Amino acid sequence: MIVAQGWEAGGHVWGQVSTMALVPAVADAVDIPVVAAGGIADGRAMAAAMMLGASGVWVGTRLLASDEATIHDTYRARLLDASEADTQWAHDLYDVDWPDAPHRALGNSTSRAWQKAGNAAPGHRPNESQVIGHRPTGEPVLRYQSYTPVPGTSGDVEAMSLLAGQGVAQVRNLSSAADIVAEIYQEAKDVLKRGSSIL
Ligand SMILES: Cc1cc2nc3c(=O)[nH]c(=O)nc-3n(C[C@H](O)[C@H](O)[C@H](O)COP(=O)(O)O)c2cc1C
Repeated sequence: MIVAQGWEAGGHVWGQVSTMALVPAVADAVDIPVVAAGGIADGRAMAAAMMLGASGVWVGTRLLASDEATIHDTYRARLLDASEADTQWAHDLYDVDWPDAPHRALGNSTSRAWQKAGNAAPGHRPNESQVIGHRPTGEPVLRYQSYTPVPGTSGDVEAMSLLAGQGVAQVRNLSSAADIVAEIYQEAKDVLKRGSSIL
C-alpha cells in the first residue's frame, strides 16, 4: 500500500497538497491500495476519502484524544478545544531530528513569538535555548524542541510542540481507541449508505 498524506495532517507533513486533491491523484497514479491520511477524524471524512479512491484511512490527530494516548492533560485540553483554524504548518519552527522537516502543530505562545520575530530561522529564533519545562525523567525541555508532553511533564506545557492536524475540529470527546475506530467506521458506512440515495 501507499499512504497519501495531505497537508491538513498533524505531526510531520512533507507535502503541501490537500488530502482532497492528493488522494485521487495518487489513486490514479498507482496500482496498489492507497491509504488516505490528513484531516480524517470522523466517519464523514473516511467516507469522502473512500470516494476519492482510498482503500483505507490513516488517522493520527483523532487518536490523540483516546484513553490510550499518553499525553499531558494540557495538550489534551487544547486538542478538545481547538478549531480547524488553530493549527500551523511550518518548515522549521520545532527542531525535529533531521533538517527541514515540516510539521503541523497547534498555535501557541512559542509559535506566536516566533511569528512576531518574522518566522526567524533556527539559530535566530527568540529564546532559543530557554528551558521551558522538564520531562518526567528530569531532563530539560528546551523551547523549539520537538517534544510531545506526556503525563508528568512539568513547566510551560502550553509552549511545547503540540502536534495536531486541521481535523482537530472534529476531536470533541475522549474515548478508547477501539471506540474511536468503531465510531469512525460505522459513521462512514452510514454516510455512504445515505449518499447513495442523494444522486
Ligand atoms: C502527535 C503526532 C506525531 C506524529 N509523528 C510523526 C512522525 O514521527 N513521523 C511521521 O512521518 N509522521 C508523524 N505524524 C503524522 C502521522 O503519521 C499521520 O500521517 C497524520 O497524523 C495523519 O493526519 P491527521 O493527524 O490529520 O490524522 C505524527 C502525527 C501526530 C498527530
